[in-house]
Amino acid sequence: MAKSKSLPLIAVEHDALPDSLGPVERHWAKANGFSGQRGRLLALPGEGGTISGYLFGMGKADDRPALLLGQAAAALEPGRYRLAGSFGDPSLAALALRLGAYRFDRYRKPRDPVAFDVVEGADAAEVSRLAEAAFLARDLINTPANDLGPDAFEKEIRAFCKRHKLEIKVIAGEELLKANFPMIHAVGRAAAEAPRLVEFTWGKAKDPKVTLVGKGVTFDTGGLDIKPSAGMLLMKKDMGGAANILGLAHAIIDAGLRLRLRVLIPIVENAISGPAFRPGDVLRARNGSTVEIGNTDAEGRLILGDALALADEESPELIVDMATLTGAARSALGPDLPPLYATDQELAQQLMTAGAVSDDPLWHMPLWAPYDAMIASKIADVNNAGASAFAGSITAALFLKRFVKQAKAWVHLDIYGWAPEARPGRPFGGTDQGIRAVYGYLKQRYR
Ligand code: BES
Ligand code: MN
Ligand code: ZN
Repeated sequence: MAKSKSLPLIAVEHDALPDSLGPVERHWAKANGFSGQRGRLLALPGEGGTISGYLFGMGKADDRPALLLGQAAAALEPGRYRLAGSFGDPSLAALALRLGAYRFDRYRKPRDPVAFDVVEGADAAEVSRLAEAAFLARDLINTPANDLGPDAFEKEIRAFCKRHKLEIKVIAGEELLKANFPMIHAVGRAAAEAPRLVEFTWGKAKDPKVTLVGKGVTFDTGGLDIKPSAGMLLMKKDMGGAANILGLAHAIIDAGLRLRLRVLIPIVENAISGPAFRPGDVLRARNGSTVEIGNTDAEGRLILGDALALADEESPELIVDMATLTGAARSALGPDLPPLYATDQELAQQLMTAGAVSDDPLWHMPLWAPYDAMIASKIADVNNAGASAFAGSITAALFLKRFVKQAKAWVHLDIYGWAPEARPGRPFGGTDQGIRAVYGYLKQRYR
């Protein structure tokens, strides 16, 4: 196949037009007021009204997002490009281009792709695995609940397992009660498609045990404590934790990290019908504790509680869960900075650092024990919702913590999973969060 020749995309630092530019291009840049301002894209004139390439402004180093080049990839016309100029770390640049060129085209005619020649010096395998991981998460989140209910989501995970040659185990419907997952069953039993717990493992049994758990609510109506329409509108993304856990699992497996991976994904639709669980119900959790339902919209922590209890039973070295768990997380830190909770302070710092270098930021929040009183119940061991609206992300994390007793360490990410506005490397819509941060940390520890 003849490869059409690529056009140069020349990265330009603030006030530093490269010497390689000819006099015409220099004048053109000046006439257009282009001096490498952060995020500016300028087409260069070629012969006969053509475009001979592009300049892209990298701005100053001190306020440059690591994935800035993703903004260029999102703005370019379809075609093939080769990165040139002053773009810093080649792997990060190549990843930025891939992540920024993402589009969700399942429901419209796909646009011709924006593609790039291999960036010299980049670790191509690592770039591909991180791009694939992010795209997997984004595609799953973007797919609406009519095409990604519990049945379809299970099918997607089956396809994932087939691709990686893994065995999958699924416990669904009434079987959840027999196998002692009462909260997963209670939350999901009102929906047309049965609740289920999906599990797979990878790696050598003797390697350190790392278990990933993801909230897989394919749609969250709020249940009988129904959400108002504005709050329900985006709730196809309530399986964003599970989607990101799958992306992370892909990166770990593809890289062959030396750990024994276990993935647990409770999948439910939080729907309304006769069998729906109710406010005031008391559920008995897998670990034997009792949970009073203060609010059926606090469903994520219930299904995670049972899954975390299972994860905890084999005393793994590390449990990481991801969940679109609370609106309060976004109130506290906004959509782009997920709260990170951890039982180990040093681990939290290392995760924040790994996130910062890969433009996958996380922020360490406290498991503030005194706030446990906010989720006390007068008739059961705990309530699933706080009596007040205070510290909602913290009290949700404290609720989860009750189900982790034996694991050496536990990390919880309260993610948003959505980019309300496009950012460099992060187009609008379903978005990956936490994958590069956790992967970057695990890679250091288990490679
Ligand atoms: N899935 C939501 C949390 C959510 C809402 C995430 C909006 C991102 C954006 C979760 O199930 C929920 O409804 N949480 C409630 C808990 C409350 C009832 C204690 C919340 O945050 O309001
Ligand atoms: Mn909810
Ligand atoms: Zn939810």
